[in-house]
Amino acid sequence: MTALSGITPSGRLTLGNHLGALRRFTDPDGFYFVANLHAMTTKHDPRRLAALTREFATLMLAAGVPEGTVFIQSDVPTHAQLAYLLECTSYVGELSRMIQYKEKGNRPMTRASLFTYPCLMAADILLYGAERVPVGGDQDQHVELARDIAIRFNREYGETFVVPQLNKAALATRVKDLANPTAKMSKSAADDAIGTIRLLDPPDVIRRQIMRAVTDSENEVRHDEANKPGVTNLLDILAACTDGDPVELAKSYATYGALKQDVADAVLAVIDPLQKEYARLTTDPGAIDQLLAQGRDRALDASTPRLQAATRAMGLAGSA
Ligand code: TYM
Repeated sequence: MTALSGITPSGRLTLGNHLGALRRFTDPDGFYFVANLHAMTTKHDPRRLAALTREFATLMLAAGVPEGTVFIQSDVPTHAQLAYLLECTSYVGELSRMIQYKEKGNRPMTRASLFTYPCLMAADILLYGAERVPVGGDQDQHVELARDIAIRFNREYGETFVVPQLNKAALATRVKDLANPTAKMSKSAADDAIGTIRLLDPPDVIRRQIMRAVTDSENEVRHDEANKPGVTNLLDILAACTDGDPVELAKSYATYGALKQDVADAVLAVIDPLQKEYARLTTDPGAIDQLLAQGRDRALDASTPRLQAATRAMGLAGSA
């Protein structure tokens, strides 16, 4: 069952991105990409985008995403090509209902691409016949729309696309901000935001952030999202990093301090090897280029037949 997923280079990569998505990019036959086209839906700085794209691709390789599966979205033109075809099968009504658009968009100076972005994401998924799409909970609505678009296309133009499955809830699909544990940890937070753990921050900074995480005025370690969001987030992070059960783990702690110490150790045990591998890879930029070229060629070969099928199905001349 082919898996596919992408990460948008719109800020420094966070622990939330890693636990909710990146560490689940394990299918050797999968397709995993830096979604740089998606990073242009709001005002962007070209130089920062280029730097972050490279950083994200290197982090994916450092995280052990299988060789040959990693590529940069804009290197593979089939994504933008299919996105246009899918825009021609999608409705303003359904796109206006997307939560991310409702939160960030719908103003006169909103980029048109923010509105059509879910069509590009559907194209990313449908081009490869992906059935599994490992993403965090904030992307579920987009995967659902990709399903709707596939089903509608198949009905109107003939069987062309595999309908992806809905994301199975995994541990830590919604990691919260450490300073504001009712909001999600987000890479678009300010660079110095203390509640966001960035994968490339120095270990002592990460430890300090965890030790300062907001909890509550009680002193009972209990998994209770509604009443104890800070403690619950720490337990969820610990569980995700140690493959444990957050409710069970709560029973082994008498104080918040002891819990935080263990969360810091567990998070650093996950991040430390990743940082070391990242540092090693960056000493050989040619090797990174080669891996990304390999990923690009494989992605182009795999996606072209389905783009051609969709093009023909829609009645575009010259492609029959
Ligand atoms: P993006 O770049 O916002 O996030 C990348 C992945 O990280 C997950 N994530 C989280 N998981 C747990 N806790 C959090 N706090 C957290 N924050 C982010 C996201 O759910 C996502 O899985 N549109 C996508 C990128 C994309 C894509 C695709 C994904 C483009 N095309 C095709 C899958 C398939 C996005 O902006 O994710």
